[in-house]
Amino acid sequence: MAQKKHKTRKTLNILDKTKKHNQFDYTEIFRHIRTNIEFSTVDKEIKSISITSTQPGEAKTTTSMNLAYIFATKYQRVLLVDCDLRKTMLHRYMKMSNKQGLTDALIEFGKTHRFNPEYIQKMSDPSFIGTLSVLTGGVHVPNPSELLGSDVFKEYMNVLKQNYDFIIVDCAPVGTISDAIPVGNAVDGTIFVVSAQDTKRKDAANCISLLQRNNVNVLGSVLTKSDTGSGSYSYYYY
Ligand SMILES: Nc1ncnc2c1ncn2[C@@H]1O[C@H](COP(=O)(O)OP(=O)(O)O)[C@@H](O)[C@H]1O
Ligand SMILES: [Mg+2]
Repeated sequence: MAQKKHKTRKTLNILDKTKKHNQFDYTEIFRHIRTNIEFSTVDKEIKSISITSTQPGEAKTTTSMNLAYIFATKYQRVLLVDCDLRKTMLHRYMKMSNKQGLTDALIEFGKTHRFNPEYIQKMSDPSFIGTLSVLTGGVHVPNPSELLGSDVFKEYMNVLKQNYDFIIVDCAPVGTISDAIPVGNAVDGTIFVVSAQDTKRKDAANCISLLQRNNVNVLGSVLTKSDTGSGSYSYYYY
């Protein structure tokens, strides 16, 4: 029987050198964001981050993926994790299988308390100094909030931190569900994505203060989808 084709989706990809648009600029932009993240706190080294925003469609996953690519050009062992369990998308943008992923790994880890790297896929690129590991969302579960809010998730994240040099976690938006809070608590810092086209300033401010009230270390924001005239993609860090 022919293998089922994975549904893929396209978005901005700094590794895609065939694109007409000026890839160098995007690579530069993401390198700049990386530097800002690395230097965002003086008293604590940032080695794991999560990405969230106000609502769906603000370019969280696109930002997470390209940040992972740029971190992989500097760090040996980089891990990208899909924690938006209601709308798993990373595997589509990255043309990967999602037959098993984070949810499957968590269910097993809850029983064994042993790290099993089999759930993690790897990808390489000539620009990377090591390999980029990817943990896709995994099988659809009815209780994502419960899973991400569990001690098992906390413990699993701690094990991941011991096994990777830098971790990037793509999260659900905070405007409607609170999944990004326990994830934010499990990483060193959180990047808040703001879309120039979609995000209302007041909504974003409310979401950021909700995160901060729940002890999430918000490092800064990335502005996406701003109309610069030179193309629809532009990322800023401030
Ligand atoms: N900087 C950008 N400018 C314009 N469109 C973008 C930008 N980044 C991503 N997109 C597009 O916006 C849509 C949502 O992106 P995605 O990363 O999946 O958002 P989210 O994860 O926040 O739901 C996709 O169609 C993607 O191609
Ligand atoms: Mg997404």
